[in-house]
Amino acid sequence: MMAQKLIIDCDPGTDDAIALLMALAPFTQVQVLGITTVAGNVSLDLTTANARRICELAGQTQAGVYAGCPRPLLRPLITAETVHGKTGLDGVTLPYPQMPLQSPHAVPFLIDTLMQSAGDIRIAALAPLTNLAVALIQQPAIAQKISQLVIMGGAITQGNITPSAEFNFYVDPHAAHVVLHAGIPITLVTLDITHQAIATPERLAPIRQQNTAVSQVVIDLLTHYSRHDMAIYGFAGAPLHDPCVIAYLMEPSLFTTQPVAVTVETTSELTLGRSVVDRWQVMGAAPNLNLVETIDVEGFYHLLTRAIASYAS
Ligand code: RIB
Ligand code: CA
Repeated sequence: MMAQKLIIDCDPGTDDAIALLMALAPFTQVQVLGITTVAGNVSLDLTTANARRICELAGQTQAGVYAGCPRPLLRPLITAETVHGKTGLDGVTLPYPQMPLQSPHAVPFLIDTLMQSAGDIRIAALAPLTNLAVALIQQPAIAQKISQLVIMGGAITQGNITPSAEFNFYVDPHAAHVVLHAGIPITLVTLDITHQAIATPERLAPIRQQNTAVSQVVIDLLTHYSRHDMAIYGFAGAPLHDPCVIAYLMEPSLFTTQPVAVTVETTSELTLGRSVVDRWQVMGAAPNLNLVETIDVEGFYHLLTRAIASYAS
């Protein structure tokens, strides 16, 4: 697995927290340059405190957490508190973080870090894309400095916050539109993939048996988080949306992709935030991203298990 430089934009949120634990794990050989937070699952103050809590749990506070935008570009903030409860990390009690919040704001951090880089930085986007959209509007040149952007967002079939839209794209459809059309090398992981990565008891058993502080937090978070998805969708466990992005960056061979043209609905009330795939380019637009089409689910859980286990050693 190649060591890589990574910035993670997130809104912890249970699945973001597990994605962070994967990326920060000793096993993963990823140099996390910074973690930027945004409002989404819960408000910005909570997503930022939760990101710091997870860094402290992982024993990895050197990366730094940078707070970003407290609301979408144009729409009022809609959080997913109904899904994640009031704290965003319901099911566990983690102490209030001691690590300092880094300056500057997430947007200048993104711009300065990318513009000073050799163009070798990857970005994992696990939340509404407000921070990245504001950075692109302020400094469009960063688009040429991002070596790869892997986004959890969108839905080709069924949405999860409305029948047609996935939560991250629904919260800030205008930001999603800016990012998808900025000319960045993008790989898109939609609900059609993450709804296959269901944390069933059988798949979680090897993590449950690890019996470490980190593995226990993973189990407790997923036990609480799964109740909502099992009730709404009838799943046999929680879908691990954001960890699929980290898994793709760590082991892309677990997935297959197809270049396609994708845009985002930004006006219709009924389908706001819908990711629209033009597979046959009937709208004339050339492919603007690689759409993840398949996932090796058991291989994904094997990778997650190994990453979490590496905290024990
Ligand atoms: O729709 C799933 C996405 O929305 C995930 O990133 C989850 O954390 C929420 O942000
Ligand atoms: Ca998220």
